[in-house]
Amino acid sequence: MENRTKLDRGFTLWFTGLSGAGKTTIAEIVERELRDRLGTVEVLDGDIVRTNLSKGLGFSREDRDTNILRIGFVANLLTRNGVAVIVSAISPYEEVRDQVRRDIGDDFVEIFVDAPLQVCAERDVKGLYKKAFSGEIPAFTGVSDPYEPPAAPELHIKTNEEEPQESARRVISKLEELGYLEPVKQYDRA
Ligand SMILES: Nc1ncnc2c1ncn2[C@@H]1O[C@H](COP(=O)(O)OP(=O)(O)OP(=O)(O)O)[C@@H](O)[C@H]1O
Ligand SMILES: [Mg+2]
Repeated sequence: MENRTKLDRGFTLWFTGLSGAGKTTIAEIVERELRDRLGTVEVLDGDIVRTNLSKGLGFSREDRDTNILRIGFVANLLTRNGVAVIVSAISPYEEVRDQVRRDIGDDFVEIFVDAPLQVCAERDVKGLYKKAFSGEIPAFTGVSDPYEPPAAPELHIKTNEEEPQESARRVISKLEELGYLEPVKQYDRA
């Protein structure tokens, strides 16, 4: 059965969405679950990548695309070696996300972490929206720079309609449905 062989394959869970939409929050819950179930999982979070792999890059379209292509390159290397990879990056441009999807192929699983701009701005987890609206930060995604929502993500999560735990549970279910994880019924415990 084709799905059975997928249990041994790597995959890239790619979380895209506005700042404050909930990518890192969901990714951290999913990471714990994958570590329990698979043993190995690697996380590439935009905030951390920008301090090392992409240090020095800014927020022009070209630099944003370079950042995403670098993350995609590393994710692809890991994925093809059987690793479960989680990427959390705003990744605002569809064209470059689709390029990463083509590079990684079937094992690319795109999760659109969606919340209305107003909700993200009210959460203002990092205090960045305040600065974006006042103009102190230029080219801020969703405020003064584009965000292109995915046309056909594997999963669309609306984080203003459910709790992070529920969002994470749906990501795990999707991986089970796609054949990357053995279904475990008692996921809801704890
Ligand atoms: N269903 C949900 N999923 C994720 N986060 C949620 C959800 N509901 C509410 N939240 C809250 O939304 C905020 C999301 O912040 P988080 O840092 O995860 O965003 P992010 O997408 O990683 O942003 P950035 O791109 O700036 O890193 C948190 O305060 C979280 O508690
Ligand atoms: Mg984050």
